[in-house]
Amino acid sequence: MSRPLVIDSVAALRAQIRDWRCDGLSVAMVPTMGALHDGHISLVRIALEKAERCVVSIFVNPTQFAPSEDLDKYPRQLARDLDRMAGAGAQLAFIPDVAEMYPAGFATRISVGGPAAGLESDFRPTFFDGVATVVAKLFLQTLPDCAVFGEKDYQQLCVVRQLCRDLDLPVEIIGAPTVRDAHGLAMSSRNAYLSEAELGVARQLNAVLHRTAAALAAGADESSATAEAGRALVKAGFDKVDYIAARESLALAPWRRNRDGRLLAAAWLGKTRLIDNVEVPSA
Ligand code: PAF
Repeated sequence: MSRPLVIDSVAALRAQIRDWRCDGLSVAMVPTMGALHDGHISLVRIALEKAERCVVSIFVNPTQFAPSEDLDKYPRQLARDLDRMAGAGAQLAFIPDVAEMYPAGFATRISVGGPAAGLESDFRPTFFDGVATVVAKLFLQTLPDCAVFGEKDYQQLCVVRQLCRDLDLPVEIIGAPTVRDAHGLAMSSRNAYLSEAELGVARQLNAVLHRTAAALAAGADESSATAEAGRALVKAGFDKVDYIAARESLALAPWRRNRDGRLLAAAWLGKTRLIDNVEVPSA
């Protein structure tokens, strides 16, 4: 089990990628904000099925956090992350600091429309601009053949696909299934904020989504079914539901019954905001 090479500058990253390219090796990327869990490790494994080398970036990106959000307390555990990357076989950890990614005078921001509209953006209006900007930078710094993103952040996955399409970024985007605990809770770095009692409640989110998706597939009215799901989450112990909505699964346009759909939700448990999504099969 060899430790990944740790690189913190764009120049050193480019030099290493150049060496790999000279040796004819393909490169996959897994962008992360660290605090790696089994979900991230599954992305690394998929990356290594697709390419001979895997770069994992760890960068808690300030431009995707609103001032009221958890940038300062976002879990940071680099030594453990490097161990986990070594176990999964990733060869390179790219760990730039904020000055490397956003040097003094940085003044560009990428804004994606289409799938970025609504859902998360209604509650985190600057989030996807921050994600799109940092992902575009990471891709241009690394120039990977492909990059792997989890379906857990389903809207983000759609936004990144749109970004690559619109800006002709030559990176194949691979969506990876959500990894869950034995009770269906989607793995997330923010699960670390939850108490034991909150974990019990959090596990209801996926169950309610599955029930609602099955009802929609069986013909239930969309607004009644999603309103009922919201009530079920509050009854289960969630403090507030930001949204539960069905969308068409690629462009995230309003869902039509004859199209494959996705049911997406965000809800609060105390100070922790959880998101999840499930497939809604076409009728
Ligand atoms: O999903 C995440 O961890 C982040 O949004 C990403 C894609 C690494 C960009 O900072």
